Amino acid sequence: MLGHQSHIRKILFTGAFLGFWTAGSAFADAGPGTTPERVAQGQALYQAKCAFCHGDKADGKGPAGKAMKPAPRNLLTGKFEKGDQPQNIFQTITKGLPKTSMPGYPNLSPDESWNLTYYVSSLRSKKAKNKK
Ligand code: HEC
Repeated sequence: MLGHQSHIRKILFTGAFLGFWTAGSAFADAGPGTTPERVAQGQALYQAKCAFCHGDKADGKGPAGKAMKPAPRNLLTGKFEKGDQPQNIFQTITKGLPKTSMPGYPNLSPDESWNLTYYVSSLRSKKAKNKK
């Protein structure tokens, strides 16, 4: 049953991913949509992959980030150069930021990248949100 479900999910997310790159419909732009489960899964991935640079609390003060120039972004309050709409964050996670230490993660599944996206998005206060 689980295998069946995850197969369907894979098809759905592959579809969303392709849509994201091509059609740009409202659904594809914002991804599959945030849920508490996605945010929780994104948080776990964040702690495993991002915290050593961006910090446990996402304040940009991870141990590995200290020597970096530019330093890892404070994800709570920093302005996002590439925008902080879900589709912008998804893109940054997938491709990285050229000329900075921010790596791209092209090998994550779209599902994983969206979960990370929704987690990062959930951290930002209304005030911090910036337009593209
Ligand atoms: C090796 C250190 C490192 C790791 C690991 C890392 N980042 Fe970054 N990140 C950076 C740096 C450096 C910047 C750029 C700061 C700047 O340009 O001022 C950045 C910038 C960003 C930005 C801002 C993008 C923008 O448009 O300005 C986001 C969002 C982000 N990272 C998310 C993540 C997420 C999510 C992960 C884990 C999947 C992650 N980062 C892993 C170092 C890292």
